[in-house]
Amino acid sequence: MTAVLDQTVALVTGASSGIGAATAAALSAQGATVALAARRKDRLDTLAASIRDNGGTALVLESDITDEQQAADAVARTVAELGRLDTLVNNAGVMLLGPAVGAPLSEWQQMIELNVLGLMYCAHAALPHLLRAAEDSPRRVADMVNVSSVAGRVARSGSGIYNLTKHGVGALSESLRQEVTKRHVRVSLVEPGAVETELAGHNRPEVLEAMRTQFSGVERMHAEDIADAITYIVTRPRHVAINELLIRPTEQER
Ligand SMILES: NC(=O)c1ccc[n+]([C@@H]2O[C@H](COP(=O)([O-])OP(=O)(O)OC[C@H]3O[C@@H](n4cnc5c(N)ncnc54)[C@H](OP(=O)(O)O)[C@@H]3O)[C@@H](O)[C@H]2O)c1
Repeated sequence: MTAVLDQTVALVTGASSGIGAATAAALSAQGATVALAARRKDRLDTLAASIRDNGGTALVLESDITDEQQAADAVARTVAELGRLDTLVNNAGVMLLGPAVGAPLSEWQQMIELNVLGLMYCAHAALPHLLRAAEDSPRRVADMVNVSSVAGRVARSGSGIYNLTKHGVGALSESLRQEVTKRHVRVSLVEPGAVETELAGHNRPEVLEAMRTQFSGVERMHAEDIADAITYIVTRPRHVAINELLIRPTEQER
């Protein structure tokens, strides 16, 4: 039986947990060969083993994509070892919240370095390969999916720099979309609301407590729900481009 993404190669950043891990598994289930990039190699090895157990093919790329060279190497190794690149999922991200007054500047820098610069390095390295894939692949289309957030649509008190990074991802995505869409590289933006992952866990205890109050009683989404949306985007026929998806848990109001 053939699957929609047979013969294609997808690189997923931040594949060691949460949305990235679920997306890599979902794309593999659709036939894609997957390259898994993140810093925690043990997690990537475990995911790769499970993908292989299910009949898929996975390449582990231990990479810190805030480092320009490591980001470029992740893309280059994907193409060198798997032969091509049809899909880039720019998913790796960090969210460090709390009042701006007195916030550790290092947290702000971390978000800019990963959510903006890391994504930018991967996008820059991948674009020539995506353009080539759109020309010579059997599907004659390629995808870059950028994971933003509800925070990329609306700014709120206490999340200014996260808002800044995700609004930036939205702006870059739309600009790139216009630039390459006629060449059949689809650039898509996914904006999740609250998803149960490790993301919030990197915050300071007092910030975590405030977040718990904000979302108390709300049933969060699962990483697989967002993986499902990303899979939908990249499995559309060549003439259909899903530009943007805003996805909230049903009970999330804002
Ligand atoms: N969870 C939510 O509620 C939610 C809502 C809206 C948007 N999002 C967005 O969804 C994306 C995925 O987040 P998640 O919720 O799945 O969180 P997560 O479980 O914390 O996953 C974040 C991923 O990013 C990777 N990462 C962190 N620093 C990295 C670096 N320097 N180089 C390479 N990879 C790095 C992590 O792997 P390593 O630590 O192993 O490197 C991990 O795989 C993020 O862009 C986030 O902003 C999440």
